[in-house]
Amino acid sequence: MENLNVFIIGITGGVGGQVARELRRRGDDVAGLIRKPEQAAALGEFGAEGRVGDLTAVSARELADLIGPADAILFSAGAGGSDMDATTAIDGDGVDKAIEAAHLAGVARFVLVSVFPEAWRDRNEGPGFEHYIRVKKGADVALSRSDLDWVILRPAALLDEPGRGTVALGPAEIHVEVSRADVAETLVEIVHEPGISRQILELTTGDTPIPLAVASNIRGDRA
Ligand SMILES: NC(=O)c1ccc[n+]([C@@H]2O[C@H](COP(=O)([O-])OP(=O)(O)OC[C@H]3O[C@@H](n4cnc5c(N)ncnc54)[C@H](OP(=O)(O)O)[C@@H]3O)[C@@H](O)[C@H]2O)c1
Repeated sequence: MENLNVFIIGITGGVGGQVARELRRRGDDVAGLIRKPEQAAALGEFGAEGRVGDLTAVSARELADLIGPADAILFSAGAGGSDMDATTAIDGDGVDKAIEAAHLAGVARFVLVSVFPEAWRDRNEGPGFEHYIRVKKGADVALSRSDLDWVILRPAALLDEPGRGTVALGPAEIHVEVSRADVAETLVEIVHEPGISRQILELTTGDTPIPLAVASNIRGDRA
């Protein structure tokens, strides 16, 4: 498998951190955006590089310079259910800025972690959650209209538990839940699979081994 140079926005997060470790384990070069210089040491322990910048403060040009000559950008940042302005700034405007930075840096491959549009709608989570869902959908729209080599992955509700190594992955799945570990492994497979391109895929708990689940979504390769 070809070694890649991957830049992760959200590298210190639950999903992003596990993707970074797995990519490094496979021999890829990994760097990512960190808000505080002291976050670099933990990344350095497994050979990933932290580059300092706040997504809400840097310009697209500055972000492009931080990204450098990457083969792919993974966007797994998020405001994490904080206030609506933060959601708009990070999950929405942050994606717009990263798309512009990808163009400026000349990086075509862009994998975005999004969310099921129907996630937890039955629970009436309130206006902040509705805003979050709206902003995430807006980011999907922006990326899908770009001319990048994009992939949008919509994981179900995230769990901090060991990965099963199996998932359900396809253009439309029923929203259940999925471990961050299985999301991370799926993202690593997707980043490495050029046959998955300009597609929206939904991901939840299931019984298909992750490499097979990803391979079965390669266009023209469906049963
Ligand atoms: N929670 C769910 O059930 C669920 C379901 C579906 C999809 N998702 C989506 O999945 C993605 C990953 O979730 P997660 O649980 O891994 O997220 P997380 O652990 O909350 O990580 C969020 C990441 O974003 C970074 N970040 C936040 N604000 C930033 C800023 N201004 N500049 C630079 N980086 C910033 C954080 O950096 P710091 O370490 O500096 O804070 C962290 O690395 C998110 O996009 C989320 O919306 C979540």
